[in-house]
Amino acid sequence: MEGRANQIQMKNNRLIHQAAKIIRKGGIVAFPTETVYGLGADAFNPIAVARIFEVKGRPYFDPLIVHVADPADLDRLVIEIPSKAKKLIEQFWPGPLTVVLLKKENVPDIVTAGLSTVAVRMPKHPMALNLIEQADCPIAAPSANPFGYLSPTTAGHVREQLGDRVDLILDGGPCPVGVESTILSFTEKGPLLLRPGGVELEEVESIIGKVKISSIEEDKPSSPGTLPRHYAPRTPIVINWSDKKIDFNEGKKIGLLSFKEPKNCLKYHHVEVLSKRGDLREAAANLFTAIRRLDALNLDLILAEAVPEIGLGLAIMDRLRRASRGQFIDSSLCLEHHPVQGSAQSNRPERHSEESCLGRMTKNLKIKVGR
Ligand code: TXA
Ligand code: MG
Repeated sequence: MEGRANQIQMKNNRLIHQAAKIIRKGGIVAFPTETVYGLGADAFNPIAVARIFEVKGRPYFDPLIVHVADPADLDRLVIEIPSKAKKLIEQFWPGPLTVVLLKKENVPDIVTAGLSTVAVRMPKHPMALNLIEQADCPIAAPSANPFGYLSPTTAGHVREQLGDRVDLILDGGPCPVGVESTILSFTEKGPLLLRPGGVELEEVESIIGKVKISSIEEDKPSSPGTLPRHYAPRTPIVINWSDKKIDFNEGKKIGLLSFKEPKNCLKYHHVEVLSKRGDLREAAANLFTAIRRLDALNLDLILAEAVPEIGLGLAIMDRLRRASRGQFIDSSLCLEHHPVQGSAQSNRPERHSEESCLGRMTKNLKIKVGR
């Protein structure tokens, strides 16, 4: 048993060594982090970074996160580190926290989409850290998925979607956190939460006090991870529906993304349970894989249960809302509009428009689902 573990370790070491060489030579490598898989290139090589945009089909106005293996590497990238950012870095690095700070001139514009700021994080996954150290350069890496789709949380997800378009895929198993990093910007008047993620907002606020939350409506295209529609499967998703207003009888294939063990499963074509015991961390870790499984079943509709917006629940609901926005569903599935409610257990004000999700979809009806 131990011998086999050693063999795997040696094989992984060889692959990391090879991956680092590819990065140094200007190639692109998919690698695991504790949040999701990233697609990385030398952050100081604009041509290599341009290939990431090409492979992902990502618009050039969407800046990338630069990954470092040591907080000291920030010196190569940013002009200054405000004291609140410093405190968070001390507490959460390595880990799923990204800080957006004023950049140094030598950081290529393609990485930051021409912004005066750069997003930086130090991942916790040993393979990621090892790769950055051996490549001996900061690694610019978005999530390793086609633009707009769900982030990959296994090497298999990356293989399915980007496969031979990347130079190498490092397999570090499933990502333990499962949702992307929390992004905080320190360039506004106070710290601003751009994206809820793997570090809980409550933990951040316990260290630096109240944080302003960026709203979907105020978001600029400079941060498309915060675009209204993002992290989306092909199948339409609806959150907070009422059973009475969904037509289960038309022979339609409807799937359920359930937070805990659901009571009545019979009417669904397939049910994915995020966490039987209702644990938000476990639910986050399973979120993207569960949605991918549902998305692979050619369903007409996915109904996604809301989770409490505390801890990791904030990131889960953020991703579900974005996945569900701006889609068009078959009007025969919806008998009537149903207003989207904020979570009853939310300790935060509802930050998004209360306009009906189903309403918006049926109003904008353009294509029939069901492929
Ligand atoms: O967990 C994560 O953060 C993963 C892993 C691979 O590290 N990465 C990730 O990258 O989610 P990506 O590119 O999928 O999302 C990064 C988000 C985008 O929404 C981008 O717009 C935003 O970060 N971003 C990057 N640089 C920024 C900047 N200078 N100002 C504001 N937003 C920025
Ligand atoms: Mg992404």
